[in-house]
Amino acid sequence: GPTGLEAARWWARMMRDPMDAYGGLFRRYGDAVRLPRDRRRALYLLSRPEHAEHVLVAKQDGYVKAFTYRPLRVFLGDGLLTSEGETWRRHRRLVQPVFAQRHVSAFAPGMAEAAARSVGRWPDGVLLDAAAHMRRITLDIVGRVLFGSDLAGESDATGRALADLQRSAVIGLGATFLGDAGLRRAFRLVPGAQRAGAQLDGMVRRVIDERRAAGPGAEPDLLDLLMRDGDPPLSDAELRDEVLTLLLAGHETTAAALTWTLILLSRYPAARDRVEAEVDEVLAGRDPDAADLDRLPWTRAVLSESMRLYPPAWTIERDAVADDDVAGTVVTAGSTVAISPYLLHRNPDLWPDPEGFRPERFLGEQDRPRHAYLPFGGGRRICVGSGFAMMEAVLVLALISRSVRLDLAPGVAVPSRAEVTLRPARPVPMRVSRRWPP
Ligand code: HEM
Repeated sequence: GPTGLEAARWWARMMRDPMDAYGGLFRRYGDAVRLPRDRRRALYLLSRPEHAEHVLVAKQDGYVKAFTYRPLRVFLGDGLLTSEGETWRRHRRLVQPVFAQRHVSAFAPGMAEAAARSVGRWPDGVLLDAAAHMRRITLDIVGRVLFGSDLAGESDATGRALADLQRSAVIGLGATFLGDAGLRRAFRLVPGAQRAGAQLDGMVRRVIDERRAAGPGAEPDLLDLLMRDGDPPLSDAELRDEVLTLLLAGHETTAAALTWTLILLSRYPAARDRVEAEVDEVLAGRDPDAADLDRLPWTRAVLSESMRLYPPAWTIERDAVADDDVAGTVVTAGSTVAISPYLLHRNPDLWPDPEGFRPERFLGEQDRPRHAYLPFGGGRRICVGSGFAMMEAVLVLALISRSVRLDLAPGVAVPSRAEVTLRPARPVPMRVSRRWPP
């Protein structure tokens, strides 16, 4: 990897656009790169499946969430995404059962209803911001099925808050040496960070207060469980952190995946024709349900291929607790290892025509190495919502494709922004053509 001045130049590029720097380092130095941070520690970019297997699965006990999660932790506290050790274990045990297949299938009608509510309001010929609408649908879904709360109306404010939060989290990377309390104080100086925190806190408080006032429903949902079933019960602060974590982790990533998929389908009309044909045949006019997940293989393959090219969680980072040897790369204690789905998914040794959009890769027998494809991470910190997200994405895309066709406005480029998640940097103007009802 680079050293001295050269390394400093890469760090500067990293601060401007981390994913662009990761790509540049991969192209310049290959799939195991060491970028020095200080005298002892470095950032290692490791982009082979055996690296992912080692760090995320086989030797996961030797790694903790990286220092790069610390700015996010200031906002999300002890929620599942950012906690460690016993707290993480207790929260995971509490939350995981809700995301079992059986439960997720029961969420399907709510998912389809939320999608139908938005899509039904798109008149023929209108130009809309697909990114904002996907956020609206996915926030509507987590609000309904996990928290029994109607959040769709808050999606624009939440979207702005999340953009501010992510920008702040990247700025905060330069100040992690301050520790948690120092970082918290430093965020008071970052424009937008305070407002974002207040907006998100307000939403979470409303969700919790409404439930306290109404009491549990007949069928307890995730919120009832969080409020009741912890062992020991979650404190008010822990409850707030977990609700916020699940609200944010549970909608922004799926929204990004859907938005990238719509953009790709607009660019690859043959793939889109095939989605429409599949959906028309399988649904024949009705709304999609849980059983359709297995009946829509092409639609699924399209989503998988879209998450290969644009993985919403584009990098997964861990700090090494002790010195380690990761498939031939010596990693020093305290160093950070980045397993980047973005780099793995475009590694030409693993994927023929890595930049091409070819959903057929995900049909039938697939003979790539395990851990070559990691949109949801791996090991015990694997995404708790992966089954939920896949169900949701397939149902929403099926419902959209049955009802409308979306074309990216001519001449519009869609640059990406990679902060915590990989998403379009700007609004995504798409033209609606209604397909159904006729
Ligand atoms: C963790 C990706 C949807 C909740 C993760 C991780 C990835 C990921 C890669 C692991 C991070 C790490 O190891 O450092 C995605 C993608 C999604 C998605 C690409 C959509 C396409 C969801 C949904 C939910 C959710 C729908 C909840 C409703 C979480 C939580 C964690 C997590 C709580 C932390 C789990 C833990 O550490 O125990 N996600 N996710 N995600 N995700 Fe997702």
